[in-house]
Amino acid sequence: MKVLITGGAGFIGANYVYTHLEAKPQDEIFVIDALTYSGDRSRLKEAEENGVQFIEGRIEDKDLVFSLFEKYKFDIVVNFAAETHVDRSIKDATPFVLSNVQGTQVLLDACKKYGITRYHQISTDEVYGDTPFDSEILFSEEDQLSPNNPYSATKAASDLLCLSYYKTFGIPVTISRCSNNYGPFQSTENFIPLFITKANNDEKMPLYGRGENVRDWLYVRDHGDAILAILDRGSVGEIYNIGGNNEWQNIDVTKLILKDLNKDFDLIEFVEDRPGHDRRYGVNSSKIQKELGWKPKTSFEEGMQETINWYTLNSYERNYSCWRDGLTPSTSNKSHQQTSSSDL
Ligand SMILES: NC(=O)c1ccc[n+]([C@@H]2O[C@H](COP(=O)([O-])OP(=O)(O)OC[C@H]3O[C@@H](n4cnc5c(N)ncnc54)[C@H](O)[C@@H]3O)[C@@H](O)[C@H]2O)c1
Repeated sequence: MKVLITGGAGFIGANYVYTHLEAKPQDEIFVIDALTYSGDRSRLKEAEENGVQFIEGRIEDKDLVFSLFEKYKFDIVVNFAAETHVDRSIKDATPFVLSNVQGTQVLLDACKKYGITRYHQISTDEVYGDTPFDSEILFSEEDQLSPNNPYSATKAASDLLCLSYYKTFGIPVTISRCSNNYGPFQSTENFIPLFITKANNDEKMPLYGRGENVRDWLYVRDHGDAILAILDRGSVGEIYNIGGNNEWQNIDVTKLILKDLNKDFDLIEFVEDRPGHDRRYGVNSSKIQKELGWKPKTSFEEGMQETINWYTLNSYERNYSCWRDGLTPSTSNKSHQQTSSSDL
């Protein structure tokens, strides 16, 4: 199979490239990535050494995307490429509309023109909006979309576009909506890597509000296994929620990091919450568990230990490689910008 992975130089995309490579070494893998502030080709160093082909470019560039489909005749597309940082979407939604909505449309049009056996859209639990806080309620796939910020609004729009191409043109689309991922390779703009890095440097950790917001955390490699299960056994036209069944308040995740690194809790600094901040996300992932037999393999304790070790060994001043068991930092010159607050 020829597989196009978009956004494969990003956090989840890069982890998925390795998951796919390990699970299906016979597949020919192509990555297209615009290498925005959050894309880093060095994440793919070992993948490229193992035959993955990298193309620098934007998914909303119709000429480029169509020429790639024409040349390589992809069987499967997995679309991770997106602008993803909520705070950035509040400052300027334009790149979000271009990458997340127009980019998805160009990919779907290419699938329509050149044919495909599967188009898989990576979406997010954020499209459901805020989950009722003090309740047992978890969103299921049939629940109404109710995005509260420009990022999640563009993700919801792209989900609907995918479903419309399935219904109108019969494009074999599947969609997955995942909860918060953590693990190696994430940009230090994001909550867990930012806080591990700050704790290691004895810097203040800026926590939104009182840190009471709740997120359901999933180890990034478990997300990759879920995507493989959907590609192998999922039904076209279906949406699958992917959750860790692992809800934590941000303050407790912060304390876990500080305890593990043997640092004082007074590094925590409460900062003003951002507008439209969803207090809780929670998805019901019983559909993928029952129908496709997927469930998360990594406990939060195990995954966080691996993650804390990884960010302690690796920083963006140093390069890294990430086969599942091989954490081998080497030298690089890529530096990443940090924002003042966690992205949750
Ligand atoms: N991070 C999470 O916890 C989470 C949870 C659920 C869903 N998701 C979804 O998973 C996907 C990947 O998220 P991530 O956290 O790895 O994000 P990321 O920001 O780390 O990576 C995104 C990648 O897409 C690339 N990209 C952006 N715009 C592009 C464009 N127009 N054309 C080509 N490449 C482009 C970037 O260069 C980057 O490499 C996104 O679709 C996101 O909505 C993320």
